[in-house]
Amino acid sequence: MAKVTVLELINKAEEALRFARPIYSGLSVGAAVLCSSGRIYTGANFENPSLMMSLCAEKVAMLKALSEGETDIKAIAIVSGKKDYCLPCGSCRQFIFEYSRDAEIYVSGNSGIKKYSITELLPEAFRP
Ligand code: THU
Repeated sequence: MAKVTVLELINKAEEALRFARPIYSGLSVGAAVLCSSGRIYTGANFENPSLMMSLCAEKVAMLKALSEGETDIKAIAIVSGKKDYCLPCGSCRQFIFEYSRDAEIYVSGNSGIKKYSITELLPEAFRP
C-alpha cells in the first residue's frame, strides 16, 4: 500500500466502530476499504431483530465503495471492539472473492496486524 498506510486504514476502521449496532452479540466491528481512486469507505456491523438481516462491517464498507462506482478495492481493514482479531465470516469471504479478489486483507489484534489474501482465507471459493 502506497500513500495510505496500513495503520491509517486500521485507524479508519476503528473510527467506524462507534457507529456499530451490535444489539444482540455486543460485538462492535469496524471496517475500512481503500480503493485505487485513493478514497476510503468505512462500515460497521448492524444487527437486527430479524437476525438473518444482520450486516457485517466489511460488507457495508465494500458496498458503499462499489455502489459509488469504485471498481478496484486495494485493501480491507477489519477491527473489533474487543481488540481481538476479527476475520471475515464465510459470507464476507465469498463477497470479497467476488468483488475484490486482489485486495489485501488486514486484521488487527493483541499481537499486531495480520495480513491475508482472499485465496488464503477462502482457498476453494464457490465459482458458478
Ligand atoms: N461480524 C462482522 O461485522 N464481520 C465479520 O466478518 C464477522 C462478524 C459481525 C456480525 C455480527 O454483528 C457480529 O460481528 C457478531 O457475529
